[in-house]
Amino acid sequence: MRKSFDEVLKYTDYALDIIKKQTMNDEESKAFTKEIVHNFDTHINPGFLEYRKAAGEDFTVMEWMANGDVFTDLHGNEYIDCLGGFGVFNCGHRHPKVVEAVKDQLAKQPLSSAELIDANRSLLARILADVTPGDLQFSFFTSSGTETVECALKMAALATGRHHFIAFEGDFHGKTAGSLSMTAKAHFRQPFLPLLQGTRHCKFGDLDMLRKMVEVMDYVGERPAAIIFEPIQGENGIQIPPDDFIPGIRKICDEYDIMMIADEVQAGMGRTGTLFAIDYYNVAPDILCLAKSLSGGVIPVSATVCTKRAFEGMFPDPLLHSTTTGGNPIATAAAIAAINVLLSEDLPGRAKRAGGMFMAGLEKIRAKYPKLMTDVRGRGLFIAMEFVDGDKGYEVVYEMFNRHVLVSGSLINAKTIRIEPPLMISDEHIEKALKVIDESCAVVYKSM
Ligand SMILES: Cc1ncc(COP(=O)(O)O)c(C=O)c1O
Repeated sequence: MRKSFDEVLKYTDYALDIIKKQTMNDEESKAFTKEIVHNFDTHINPGFLEYRKAAGEDFTVMEWMANGDVFTDLHGNEYIDCLGGFGVFNCGHRHPKVVEAVKDQLAKQPLSSAELIDANRSLLARILADVTPGDLQFSFFTSSGTETVECALKMAALATGRHHFIAFEGDFHGKTAGSLSMTAKAHFRQPFLPLLQGTRHCKFGDLDMLRKMVEVMDYVGERPAAIIFEPIQGENGIQIPPDDFIPGIRKICDEYDIMMIADEVQAGMGRTGTLFAIDYYNVAPDILCLAKSLSGGVIPVSATVCTKRAFEGMFPDPLLHSTTTGGNPIATAAAIAAINVLLSEDLPGRAKRAGGMFMAGLEKIRAKYPKLMTDVRGRGLFIAMEFVDGDKGYEVVYEMFNRHVLVSGSLINAKTIRIEPPLMISDEHIEKALKVIDESCAVVYKSM
């Protein structure tokens, strides 16, 4: 209900004081937690409190500070972050180089006029053209993963003059109308159908089916504008396709002049042991979607990186697709610093080595609890533990959280728990996390 401006002003003063605060004593933190829970219940969504059960019955775990591969709750307890913001924190939390670049830009001009020519956007676009595979050359900047997918779909339609798309079963591409059309779980799509017309879903990894689907679509006059895919499916529980799948998509796209869209919102930026997941296959897409860790874990930014052919439909009217704050100066400063960190610290190489260490440890744990943990798979630090069912997986997550290691389930595949830590996670924290997984599995195994 509307309050007087004086009352609102008072509350904003109080909130600003909180933002300034570094720590709270026990009494303050208890009262503050109660207030935040109330605000969530009343103004965010009461369902969240139920959903966040892993945070303990009384929801007292409120994240407050973070550094490197660790975050701290309001009470000062430390947690190892093996979730990494679902792929946001590849550079870790508050990497000094990213923070410095953002502060430098903040001191000059945080947001631009959105009318004149601004520097950072062009610097980042040039850097992306230089680090991405193939002939990717032009970038359109936004703030979230789903927006990069929306842009990619529109660019493909514009470039080809066609309006049909193929995505894959188990894919996750976001939840706005266009990207949700590509996302492949009924639970998220059904309440909002019909979505984008002319979207088909094919079995992930099945090249024969894909070829037949394209042949038939072409035959009936519905040749796709694009085939969109995740090189490794993240929300579907780290599903790695057969080695010939992605080169096979490229071949079909070339034969039929279809745009190949690689969605690396989650798998990209070093996570799988190469800068981009698609690098593993030595294949270049026509359109590459980047988000999450492009922000350096500091301020959101996303990019749709395209070939000239995919983007030139935008040349006559650059405002045909636009967003006011996408690619703003502080966000692009963060992304430039993030790429600098990834390359200068060889974080893809670190992901490969650390991923090997994690996987070896997990395999040993799986062998101890075969009826509980049924599979371990991954590439680099993009790892899944698969459990016998979703409930058992959740119990393991709960036990792990009580031992101060954060992991999470997957949106599309409830049986898998993902391990996606910052790429600079220390060996010591990997060993500790493995010990916690072992202990947690032992507790759940005993109750089976
Ligand atoms: C592969 C992929 N694409 C797109 C998205 C959507 O990104 P966002 O949540 O930033 O909109 C996600 C989010 O998890 C993703 O994993």
